[in-house]
Amino acid sequence: MTQHNHAQAPRQPELSRADFGEDFKWGASTAAYQIEGAHEAEGKGLSIWDVFSGKRGKVKQNHNGNHACDFFNRYPDDLALVQSLAIPNFRFSLSWPRLLPEGHGQINRAGVDYYNRLIDHCLELNITPWITLYHWDLPQALERKGGWANRDIVGWFEEYVALCIKLFGDRVKHWMVLNEPMVFTGAGYFLGVHAPGRRGFGSFIPAVHHAALCQAEGGRIIKQLLPEAEVGTTFSCSYIEPLRQQERDIKAAVRVDALLNRLFLEPSLGLGYPLDDLKFMRRIEKYVQPGDEGKLRFDFDFIGVQNYTREVVKYTFWTPFMQANLVSPKKRGVPYTLMNWEVYPEAIYHMLQQFGKYKGIKKLVVTENGAAFADQFQNGQVHDPERMAFLQRYLAQVLRAKQDGVNVQGYFVWSLVDNFEWAEGYDPRFGLVHVDFATQARTVKSSGYWYRDFLKKGV
Ligand code: BGC
Repeated sequence: MTQHNHAQAPRQPELSRADFGEDFKWGASTAAYQIEGAHEAEGKGLSIWDVFSGKRGKVKQNHNGNHACDFFNRYPDDLALVQSLAIPNFRFSLSWPRLLPEGHGQINRAGVDYYNRLIDHCLELNITPWITLYHWDLPQALERKGGWANRDIVGWFEEYVALCIKLFGDRVKHWMVLNEPMVFTGAGYFLGVHAPGRRGFGSFIPAVHHAALCQAEGGRIIKQLLPEAEVGTTFSCSYIEPLRQQERDIKAAVRVDALLNRLFLEPSLGLGYPLDDLKFMRRIEKYVQPGDEGKLRFDFDFIGVQNYTREVVKYTFWTPFMQANLVSPKKRGVPYTLMNWEVYPEAIYHMLQQFGKYKGIKKLVVTENGAAFADQFQNGQVHDPERMAFLQRYLAQVLRAKQDGVNVQGYFVWSLVDNFEWAEGYDPRFGLVHVDFATQARTVKSSGYWYRDFLKKGV
């Protein structure tokens, strides 16, 4: 169990929804594999997460997403919760293998029906759906053919995106192509700690290039088929600082920033990969074909910023390629969450500033921000003052960025409900709503009630 640093909670800033302006988009985010369950219902194909979490020792306590929050069956109740919390926008992802069990070719009609019901129900309740096309659950059938490391993925992805837009584009206007490509390629294809569990440069480098191509190609297909769509894609980002103001740490911080914050964003803006600051990535050029530079580029309507923390970086000779280490918050004696991520609200301000400075970015939407704490379920309630303070303090920094001129136009909490936190299993709870995974009972946490009141008051 993670130790918490129970530093005195600082006074909370007074926030009002009205300060963000009328057009600001408020929401909550989720992802298919983390909430849906129903892993083999009605013709769904296997995803890489079904297979990975089924192997012993890959996920903490050998948890898996087979049932998760059973959102597949309970979505009417969960959408009723979204409505009762006055959350106007709901972000969820489509499961590729639920729609195309083999990844391409045969369509699973039951999967189509399910997403039709989900989307229609959102609209009936006046909730605007924001859809992520890919939130990490690649069809296993495609992984067998090489997955993200095989360039054919560009064609498979094109087929999948076109299908989704043809099926749902009549009702859904807000689309995000990929969720955090740095995480699914880095953790899944380099470190092997996420599905599909591959390690090393041999898979990672081509996976990066193919994901970057799909990111732009997906955007192009959406716009072609649905010119009125608002098309975005999302990036994980952490504010990076050197441990000491010394050249070696500063340079190490530049490398980490290039890897974590710039690798996928810059090619989409036509700036190419940041290879000057990431020399070891130069081997990517082997996979770049003539004409690819143009294909990497797409003019997104918005960029999804997903920030949780900052990382402090120290030079080290011993870490191959990067020669950099992250200094843990515990070592630095600062507060952190159950994920061992520092609580550092200014991080989101700095990331919004950093991304806001790119000429090619039209607008930013915070598509994820939130925290896992050791919530206690007591007397039928979950009182989570730490999460409430976290959200308020980060939001105050979003407002600060907006007031300083950054074009940020939305904020989505991660997450609506406690859910399957990938390799960490069910222990880290991020929800505004508590889930008892044995009974599937939902209990709105005090942070959920706070968000509701905040959203209700300012309109
Ligand atoms: C991902 C979510 C994840 C969250 C917390 C993001 O990296 O998009 O799927 O649950 O952060 O780790």
